[in-house]
Amino acid sequence: MSNNLLEVSRDGEIAVIVINNPPVNALSPGVPEGIAEAIESIAQDSQVKAVVLMGAGKTFVAGADIKEFGKITSGQRSRPGLGQLLAKLEDSRKPVVAAIHGSAFGGGLELAMAAHYRVASPTAQVGQPEVKLGIIPGAGGTQRLPRLAGVAKAVEMCAEGNPIKASDALEFGIADRLIDGDLRAGAVQFAREISAKPAPQTRARSEKLGTPDQNVAIFAAARENARSKQRGMNAPLAAIDAVEAATTMPFEQGCEYEQKRFMECLFSEQSKGLIHVFFGEREVAKIPDVPKDTPILPVGNVAVVGAGTMGGGIAMVFANAGIPVLLKEVDQPALDRGLANITKNYDTSVSKGRLTQRSAGERLALIQPTLSFDDFDDVDMVVEAVFEGMELKKQVFAELDRVCKPGAILASNTSTLNVDEIASATSRPEFVIGTHFFSPANVMRLLEIVRGRGTSKEVIATCMQLSKKLGKVGVLVGNCMGFVGNRMFGPYRREAQFLVEEGAQIEAVDQVLFDFGMAMGPLATGDLAGLDVGWRIRKEYRHLQNPGVRQPFAEDKLCELGRFGQKTGAGWYKYDGRRRASSDPAVAALLREWSAQAGIPQREISSEEIVDRCIYALVNEGARILEQGYALRATDIDIIYLYGYGFPSYRGGPMWYADRVGLDRVCDRICEFHRQFGALWEPAPLLKQLASQGKTFSEFQTERGAAA
Ligand code: 3HC
Ligand code: NAI
Repeated sequence: MSNNLLEVSRDGEIAVIVINNPPVNALSPGVPEGIAEAIESIAQDSQVKAVVLMGAGKTFVAGADIKEFGKITSGQRSRPGLGQLLAKLEDSRKPVVAAIHGSAFGGGLELAMAAHYRVASPTAQVGQPEVKLGIIPGAGGTQRLPRLAGVAKAVEMCAEGNPIKASDALEFGIADRLIDGDLRAGAVQFAREISAKPAPQTRARSEKLGTPDQNVAIFAAARENARSKQRGMNAPLAAIDAVEAATTMPFEQGCEYEQKRFMECLFSEQSKGLIHVFFGEREVAKIPDVPKDTPILPVGNVAVVGAGTMGGGIAMVFANAGIPVLLKEVDQPALDRGLANITKNYDTSVSKGRLTQRSAGERLALIQPTLSFDDFDDVDMVVEAVFEGMELKKQVFAELDRVCKPGAILASNTSTLNVDEIASATSRPEFVIGTHFFSPANVMRLLEIVRGRGTSKEVIATCMQLSKKLGKVGVLVGNCMGFVGNRMFGPYRREAQFLVEEGAQIEAVDQVLFDFGMAMGPLATGDLAGLDVGWRIRKEYRHLQNPGVRQPFAEDKLCELGRFGQKTGAGWYKYDGRRRASSDPAVAALLREWSAQAGIPQREISSEEIVDRCIYALVNEGARILEQGYALRATDIDIIYLYGYGFPSYRGGPMWYADRVGLDRVCDRICEFHRQFGALWEPAPLLKQLASQGKTFSEFQTERGAAA
């Protein structure tokens, strides 16, 4: 028997069901039903003694079909009944062996746990990642996993959503055997061994469900962990409640409870935001005019110029991916400092148990320090990370043009300079590109890839692919001042400063935005990054400012007092020797004094105004960027903000957030600010247009994509 999503064949007395729903064998409509039907028909076949269930292609089953969720919440499809279909599988009198390779995630693991046995390839992974989509397992995962793996492991996997390796799955009793070599043959062999035994049902087990005394501490710790590490997210707490239900309720009642919480989560704004992020992360990799089959250039070895804050981090990023790096500095002391920082970073990872001493040593050995350009003729790519200054960058690029082989990619990590002007120092602008890493480069996942006027499609495709290899999320952006992320961050931080200049408390501005979900408040972020960075840039670009347009003054004045932020022990806040912040009444007093001098009336400012002014400043600039084509899609902006600026993922990104609030409401509020605060709040034309048409940025994106 077979349908187009499933193939059933026989290996002697063992039936083999292969799920074939590329690319990841998601449980789209038809797949679970097909499995249930196949099991029913196998039940009638007296020659079959046991069943192997596996996936075709690169994976077992990556879970429910996430595309279906939007159809369910919009009423186009009825609620999922996967749980009942899995119960049928578990009821089969003929034992079913799930044979896992690749991933058994979400509904995939739930399917495997409803089978009677599980075998896995050593490279397989299993997990319940639903919380990352703002939902919880919805087909018995929270009820079966604790029965197999114990309460502590189940609560960790369901609440945190991280996968575990096959060897851990074996250790925790999720898998019964690991199979080296041919999985199908090994699984069939296993099925033969157990075919005469009764089929054990996961749901009937209870020996790992613990006692109330043991469990109370596990759940309390899990809730505390979720509240701090997944701050603001509802699904992890719901997942913990559901696993707890497994320990207090009979299986069927626990499943009903799980289903109720699953549906609540599925219909939540958080889930919609996170599902947008899931598809967005994958969409950003697609560049309309750079087709999938664009040739990729080899990047087998690289060089980094400058071993400062960024260069050192970037060298680590390459070394961590196994790519040898030449690291060049101007003199021995600078090189020594750079290497000492890198070594210290690796040592910290080792001491925290994130890395073994051996891998730290291997990675360090991939970084070869140098003071000359001598070996640059051999590298496939160079990333320049010298001081931010056009003349210096041009000098370095002219030198790179001279020493590097034809076809080498020449990338700049500049955060503000014009990539085309940098490229003009070379004879090969088609090989010049911006790779804007975020600090700390070895930690932050965002990589803005800046397309210059002349950058070739091959170079773009190579950098996009490379970003994945480096563990980064690469987003292609256009070459404008500040690119996408920093260009939007300017107005956001400007408003934070205006707010305190108008009478809001420094701590209140940071707290309100932290409570909104930002990783850090905007003023504390300034202290972390160094207030002097923006101060120096503003001094350089002062001639470009429009006279008569209000500019924030507080940070410049703080810098004039030597308060550069954490690095000088004082900025918006004061810091102790361990960089712990506390309020500084002196700054509050200075602010009142400066505001009085500037004639800015002081007033009470609501939390709502703090959020609207800061977040809508992002949205308004984002709309301009989108209209001007410096970002390909609203989604790209969202992804930049999630991975580079600590925007809360459950709000989907600033553009998605604005869509959900309603662009008419956002635009009205911006117009109100425009009347109240003047020219800086001029609403972006695209925002006005979409608001008047009752449309969203997502719809604009779809229409623009269709027209392209
Ligand atoms: N549903 C629908 N589409 C999915 C999918 C899913 N569960 N998982 C992946 N895809 C799609 C991706 O969108 C992508 O599509 P595209 O090519 O059009 O962009 C394609 O499959 C390939 O995915 P990746 O690019 O992510 O491929 P990788 O090889 O890098 O990774 C993976 C594969 C590890 C399986 C990864 O895709 C993944 O983690 N998927 C999501 C797993 C997940 O969250 N599962 C839980 C779903 S919710 C659930 O099961 C609820 C249940 O409890 C009822
Ligand atoms: P940094 O001051 O920490 O390091 C710059 C290093 O370049 C110094 O060690 C210097 O000795 C070295 N250098 C100067 N000229 C050189 C040359 N000709 N050859 C080799 N090395 C040379 O600066 P940082 O912060 O690392 O910034 C570097 C670049 O990254 C700048 O373009 C900056 O705008 C950008 N950037 C910085 C971020 C940050 O948060 N610090 C974030 C993203 C981008």
